[in-house]
Amino acid sequence: MAKQSVSSKQREQLLRAARRVTKNAYAPCSNFRVGTAILTSKGQTFAGCNVENASYGMTNCAERTAIFSAIAAAGPKLDIRAVAVVNAQGVPCSPCGACRQVIYEFGLDSVVFFPGADGWKEAHITELLPEGFRLK
Ligand code: THU
Repeated sequence: MAKQSVSSKQREQLLRAARRVTKNAYAPCSNFRVGTAILTSKGQTFAGCNVENASYGMTNCAERTAIFSAIAAAGPKLDIRAVAVVNAQGVPCSPCGACRQVIYEFGLDSVVFFPGADGWKEAHITELLPEGFRLK
């Protein structure tokens, strides 16, 4: 359970922003369009979509696009409170391992909302990534 809670209004706003940005996804390889919105501890919201590449491994997931956009816009002192992940296909989709590690770097006490097999799920980042790596 996160120390700072996220209200249902904030959660709905995040999900709306995440849904909106799925339209910008560049997904010619998979046709799987993903959108993410993050809420920072300062109350700002940043969104990102997946950006694929013909050389598949260069693909950037929606979660990392949102986080990197936040840092580009507002600087490196990013503290993530919440992350919402949606996809245009309406199927279950939790963040991949690489994105979990990136969320953890900037959101030690963050919650993640995502579509699970039985509806919406909410999980603390440390549930999704136990023993995440930190330099210090
Ligand atoms: N993808 C995301 O953007 N976020 C996720 O949480 C899961 C997967 C993207 C990567 C790739 O562009 C496509 O979905 C299919 O894997």
